[in-house]
Amino acid sequence: MPVKSPRPGDLEPIETASRDELEALQLSRLQWSLRHAYDNVAHYRQAFDRAGAHPTDCRELADLAKFPFTVKSDLRDHYPFGMFAVPRERVARIHASSGTTGKPTVVGYTKSDIDTWAGAMARSIRAAGGRPGDIVHVAYGYGLFTGGLGAHYGAEKLGCTVIPMSGGQTEKQVQLINDFRPDIIMVTPSYMLAIVEEMQRQGLDPRACSLSVGIFGAEPWTPTMRAKIEALVGIDAIDIYGLSEVIGPGVAQECVETKDGLTVWEDHFYPEVIDPETGKVLPQGEKGELVFTSLSKEAMPIIRYRTRDLTRLLPGTARTMRRIEKITGRSDDMMIIRGVNVFPTQIEELILRDPMLAPHYQVEITRPGSLDEMTILVERAPAVGSADGAAAGERLAHRVKSLIGVSAAVRVLQSGGIERSVGKARRVVDKRQLG
Ligand code: DLL
Repeated sequence: MPVKSPRPGDLEPIETASRDELEALQLSRLQWSLRHAYDNVAHYRQAFDRAGAHPTDCRELADLAKFPFTVKSDLRDHYPFGMFAVPRERVARIHASSGTTGKPTVVGYTKSDIDTWAGAMARSIRAAGGRPGDIVHVAYGYGLFTGGLGAHYGAEKLGCTVIPMSGGQTEKQVQLINDFRPDIIMVTPSYMLAIVEEMQRQGLDPRACSLSVGIFGAEPWTPTMRAKIEALVGIDAIDIYGLSEVIGPGVAQECVETKDGLTVWEDHFYPEVIDPETGKVLPQGEKGELVFTSLSKEAMPIIRYRTRDLTRLLPGTARTMRRIEKITGRSDDMMIIRGVNVFPTQIEELILRDPMLAPHYQVEITRPGSLDEMTILVERAPAVGSADGAAAGERLAHRVKSLIGVSAAVRVLQSGGIERSVGKARRVVDKRQLG
């Protein structure tokens, strides 16, 4: 497949600037952002004062470590607009992400923030191989979720033709892909699989469709899933990362020419990786929790936000900016089964290795007695009979035991037995009684 490497002049100057130039820009923006947060958000003023850190104490980038972290509950405690640093009238847009508990996490953008975000997304789409004039089919959900509108504004800014399909209506997704012949699709990897299934149901060959690039994110997915989707659809499957608290999609993006992790758009979002237990900043290359500080956001500056996503920072390759390793889990998704830490993505890897199993799965946690038990629900591949499916289930249980180190029951369901999501897949179903 021809990979569209960027031509000289395609990239913004900052993408290939020297590290010194980038760091000088980061420092001046960081000083502005800390001052802006301190002067205009009561929460930050109090938190900085408590930590004995004043914006003028930031003289070099490493000084950021003196400032306190921000966590999700800080945003919830100031629901809905208490974290905003500009008068509400200057807020041009609101987004929100729903959590497991009642109140959503609310974020706001000025006109200039929307422009910054669209710029980061345009850069991301271009890094994935998109070019002005391409047709972009957006199947991330539109609405309070940042996926749809984030992708939309970025694709428009790059000069693409945008199809704002949103999530759901899978038959119609397939019809529009057939008729409008998009070059690029932007969607969660799990929903891409549902679209591919629908193509196959209609007797269409996914490899014959017009798509050449998929920009997939909003949920963890494994390198094996990438290989699977690339083989099924004949596209480059490229990773995109972001979170609403920081801006939305477009915080970090994998470059199609290297496919070696995600380049963090460090001129706007300053990354750190910390030890989740001690809060200490870890050196490059060590795995821990990803933390972000916004460098240019006006409406809702975010200082040292703990993402709960686990990864490591790596030096830049395709760009000057540093990379993060593909995120294969967040601390919230980690299951502790009889003392062993397990991420759903570890199970995904093992499922995808077996051609008798389909890439649709869920993990159920129950506590029938005093110990947690894990059941993996997975489907057999469409043409596979129930006896072969059962044998594949036994193989999976064996591999989970020997490679991850936990005992799991495996239930192999027939094709379609696992509910398809139209956005982020729900991988873990926790059926333990609380309390
Ligand atoms: O999911 C923003 C987004 C939309 C990213 C579309 C990419 C594409 P939230 O709903 O706030 O925002 O969820 C953010 O999703 O902290 C990660 O745990 C997870 N996540 C996002 N992208 C990836 C990825 C959007 N590429 C949370 N790989 C983040 C793994 C991801 N996890």
